[in-house]
Amino acid sequence: MSDKAILQVGDNSYEFPLIKGTENEIAINVKTLRTASQGIITIDPGFKNTGSCESAITFLDGEKGILRYRGYSIEELANKASFLEVAYALIFGDLPNKEQLDTFHSDIKSKSVVDEDVKKIIDAFPKNAHPMGILSSLTSALVAFNPSSVNVDSEEEMYRAIVKIMGKFPVLVAWAMRKIEGLPLNYGSNSLGYIENVMKMMFEKPNEEFEINPIIKSALDKLLILHADHEQNCSTSTVRVVGSSHAGLFASISAGISALWGPLHGGANQAVLEMLESIKADGGDTKKYMAKAKDKNDPFRLMGFGHRVYKNFDPRAKIIKEAADEVLNDLGINDPILDIARALEQEALSDPYFVERKLYPNVDFYSGIIYRAMGIPVEMFTVMFALGRLPGWIAQWKEMRLRKEPIGRPRQIYIGENYREFIPIGKR
Ligand code: CMC
Repeated sequence: MSDKAILQVGDNSYEFPLIKGTENEIAINVKTLRTASQGIITIDPGFKNTGSCESAITFLDGEKGILRYRGYSIEELANKASFLEVAYALIFGDLPNKEQLDTFHSDIKSKSVVDEDVKKIIDAFPKNAHPMGILSSLTSALVAFNPSSVNVDSEEEMYRAIVKIMGKFPVLVAWAMRKIEGLPLNYGSNSLGYIENVMKMMFEKPNEEFEINPIIKSALDKLLILHADHEQNCSTSTVRVVGSSHAGLFASISAGISALWGPLHGGANQAVLEMLESIKADGGDTKKYMAKAKDKNDPFRLMGFGHRVYKNFDPRAKIIKEAADEVLNDLGINDPILDIARALEQEALSDPYFVERKLYPNVDFYSGIIYRAMGIPVEMFTVMFALGRLPGWIAQWKEMRLRKEPIGRPRQIYIGENYREFIPIGKR
C-alpha cells in the first residue's frame, strides 16, 4: 500500500503522508491542507473520523471488541490486577513491581489530606446538589488550595501533582456522597489499601464499627479498572483540550468531570437505573420501551445501549454482566430490575433495529445494578465512573503535555450572515 493519500479538489491535488500505528491503524495526516490549499479545511462533527492525537496509552478495536491498557488486555487486568496497579500502568507505562507499587501507594497516602477549609465549601452546597457538580467544583477548588503550577519538564513536580490528585480525589468522592447522605465528613485510614480506604470513607457510619465486605471490595476494584481509561472519549478529549492551553492538571480534570456528567457519556449509568426503575413502575413491559426506543418521533433512547466505537460488543459490558450476577448472588440480593435489564438485552439482541445499527449493551448497562447492590445512591453512580477514570485522565494529560501537543483549537465553516450595516438602536 502507498504511504501517501491524494486529495483532489477541483483541478488541484494535494498529497498527504499516512501515519500507521503499532496496531496497523492508518490516518491521513492533513496537517498541511489548509496552508497548501489556501483555506480548505476538513469538517467532521462529533469527530467521528478524526484522530486528535497519537497515543500509547489505550488501544481499542470496536469491530473486534478489543480493549487494552498499555498492551494488557482488559479481561486479564479486570481478573488479575488491582485498580492501583492498573492506575500505575496507565500513568507510567508498565505494570509496577511490588516495590514500585508500594512506593506509589505510600506517596499517594502521604498526600491524601484535604485542607479543612474545603469542608466550608461543601457546607455551602444545598443537600440536594448533584454530587457530580460537587465533585467538579471541589476538584477545581483544589487548584486554589494547591496554587503552584506544575513544571511539566520536571519529573518530580509531575509525580507530586499525580500522587496529590490520586490521594485527594477519593476523599472528595466520599465527601460528595456523605454530603447528600447527611453524614459527617471523615477520613479513611492510611493502614488500608486504596480501595478499602475508599470504601471506609464512603460507607463508614459514625455509630458503627466499619468492616470491609470482601465481595464489595473485589467488585469495586473490578469496576474501577473497567472504567480506568477509554482513549479519546468525550471527557478525556476535554481533559486533553483544556490541558493543551496549559491549564493545570486539577483544572483539566475538573473540566473532564463536567464532560463525563452528561447522560450520553458517564451519566448513562444513572440514566440506566432510572430507566429500569420507571419500566418496573410502569408494569415491567419491556416491549413497550423497545418500541419507544425505535420510534424516531420519541426522544426516548435505550440507555446503556450503543457506543460510538464498539460495533460488535463492549468487552467491559461482558465482564460487568458476569460481575453483576456474582455480586447479587454473593450478597443474596434479588433485584427485580436485573430481570428487566436481562429481558431488554435479550430483546435488543434479536431486534433488527438494534442489530442493523450494531447497538449492544455498553459498560453502563449493568454497572448501576452492582453499585446499587453495594449501597451506593443512584446520583453517585457517575461519580464512581469518575473515580475509576481518574488515572486515565491523568495519563492522557501527562502524555499530551510531554508530547508538547499544540493548543486544541478547531476551525469552523461560518454559515451566518454576510456583512451587514450597523443600524442604530432607535432605527431597528
Ligand atoms: N437507543 C435507540 N437508538 C439508538 C441508541 C439507543 N441507545 N443509540 C443509538 N441509536 C440509534 C440512533 O438513533 C441512530 O439511528 P439512525 O441511524 O436511524 O439515525 C443510530 O443508532 C446511530 O446512533 P448515533 O447517535 O448516531 O451514534 P453515536 O455514535 O453518535 O452515539 C451513543 C453513541 C453512545 C451516544 C448512543 O448510542 C447513545 O445515545 N446511547 C445511549 C446513551 C449511553 O448508553 N451512553 C453511554 C456510552 S458508554 C459509556 C461512555 O464511555 O460514555
